[in-house]
Amino acid sequence: MESYLKIFENNKAWVRSKLAADEHFFEKLARDQRPHYLYIGCSDSRVPANVIMGLDEGEVFVHRNVANLVVGADNNINAVIQYAVEFLEIQHIIVCGHYGCGGVKAALHPTDMGQLNSWLQNLRDVYRIHQHELDAISDSHLKFDRLVELNVIEQCVNIAKIDHVQRKWYKTGYPMIHAWVYDLHNGLLKELDVNLEEYFSSIRSIYDLNVGDE
Ligand code: CO
Repeated sequence: MESYLKIFENNKAWVRSKLAADEHFFEKLARDQRPHYLYIGCSDSRVPANVIMGLDEGEVFVHRNVANLVVGADNNINAVIQYAVEFLEIQHIIVCGHYGCGGVKAALHPTDMGQLNSWLQNLRDVYRIHQHELDAISDSHLKFDRLVELNVIEQCVNIAKIDHVQRKWYKTGYPMIHAWVYDLHNGLLKELDVNLEEYFSSIRSIYDLNVGDE
């Protein structure tokens, strides 16, 4: 049997187990979605959003890309964030990086990676913003880990730059933005020790679009 055909077998077994626990499971799920979280994470196959957070179907709206980037010119993530904030009225946006991220690692080394070059530029920009701190770390593993963390923080800042996110803040005080990192070695999620509120206010004069006056 071709290995991908196994997926259909898995799928049927999953349907059977769900229906065994609740015969109306799919009926209820098909009605609507009311997730409380938007998760923005890396595409890495070892970091499956629902699984690591212990959340069920319908509980989390998910966007994943290489190295969990929030890029202003990326229509895809812009649509995801707008839909989550304006239509699903999600109050918590989680940006979750992971130690050992291949995308972050690639950005630490001067390598021509073709199509990936422009995507990885965003990570090199994070390095440039925090060059002083990163260059002071002599241990290459620690520097790698720190760039993973700083990347998460800068992607949170990128969410704060978005006009409709700012508009929602003025109106409701939400969404709250969370900076998390997942550790592949022990399976644990951790919240980064960063005061995002303070960081946002320190750069507010640059990125505030004054949408509150509308
Ligand atoms: Co990754």
